[in-house]
Amino acid sequence: MTTLKLPGMIDAHVHLREPGGTHKESVTSGTAAALAGGVVGVLEMPNTNPATTDADSFTLKHKLYRSKSRCDFGLFLGSDGRNLDALNKLGNRAAGLKLYLDNTYGDLCIQHPALLEPIWERWPGPGPICVHAESTQSLSQALSLTARHSQRLHICHVSREENLRLILAAKEQGLPVTFEVTPHHLFFTVEDAKRLGPFGMMKPSLGTPHDREALWQHLDAVDCIATDHAPHTREEKLGAEPPPGVPGLETALPLLLTAVDQGKLDISRLIELTYLNPLRIFPITPPPDTWIEVDPNARYQLSNCSLQTRCGWTPFEDMWVLGRVVRTWFRGQMAFELGKICAAPGTGHDMVQGFPVNQTEFRNHT
Ligand code: DOR
Ligand code: ZN
Ligand code: ZN
Repeated sequence: MTTLKLPGMIDAHVHLREPGGTHKESVTSGTAAALAGGVVGVLEMPNTNPATTDADSFTLKHKLYRSKSRCDFGLFLGSDGRNLDALNKLGNRAAGLKLYLDNTYGDLCIQHPALLEPIWERWPGPGPICVHAESTQSLSQALSLTARHSQRLHICHVSREENLRLILAAKEQGLPVTFEVTPHHLFFTVEDAKRLGPFGMMKPSLGTPHDREALWQHLDAVDCIATDHAPHTREEKLGAEPPPGVPGLETALPLLLTAVDQGKLDISRLIELTYLNPLRIFPITPPPDTWIEVDPNARYQLSNCSLQTRCGWTPFEDMWVLGRVVRTWFRGQMAFELGKICAAPGTGHDMVQGFPVNQTEFRNHT
């Protein structure tokens, strides 16, 4: 078999559920899923229990990752708008600051728009302010704050044409704005949501065929592809109030390689979107001696049976794809080979280096 050697992906948006939700996923199972999917670095969101908003919760999560992560990692801080002193102290240990401007899973949300301005005034960086901003109103607010303050803004999981247009206009004005799209918004629409029921429910929800087309049409302006890996158990999804979110770490690369085969993007653009650009946007260093081998000719159906994620299902089940991760080499060792995880928990390092304050100032302006 001829394999293709690629850089391992850096996924800038995952929810590995530890602490507080290890029945859905844990650091060990989630980072196993990462390696199986060709992902060698994950940036973890703060909406865990406890939420990552102060020194105690940050240190607790950091210790968990240092001892359990099988791939490299970075941690986001979160805010309810009332933890500015903690953010100031911890900023340079984090991949960035994540703000929830609209309600989603968990209770970490900025409840009043007036709480936003002080955050834009005081976030020390060096990572960007990242926003879950689904409504056009929330997004406009984040963009206008960014126009008035010296901060970089990263917009998570853009899924609607209307929001995409606002972001493109902001970029054209020269605002320091970047954005990501997810595989589920690139490959599914509301039609799939009907078929999938709760297993196709996430926030932002799946868009219209028109929205999806707009994402592909403007792929040249997209900064990165991130999975928003958000596992929940089957039982939870089938319950009375299914939580939003779908897993994605193990399906992103096969889907993207399939899109390469279909001529929707080329390999060098795929590498930009999944590796080079995350390294430009976030204050992180990738693991050395690390790469993946893919079989670009393997044609198969994605299946729930072959997953490492603890939740045990994928919304892409049965989809035909072209391209399989055969091996993941991580920090000089074979970490995954043909369905088998070899990397031990605790082999992952923190990708966030931390910067002296004077460099923080510099990085905020680049
Ligand atoms: O669908 C989602 N699930 N969207 C989010 O913003 C949060 C995530 C989760 O944590 O489950
Ligand atoms: Zn979100
Ligand atoms: Zn998310």
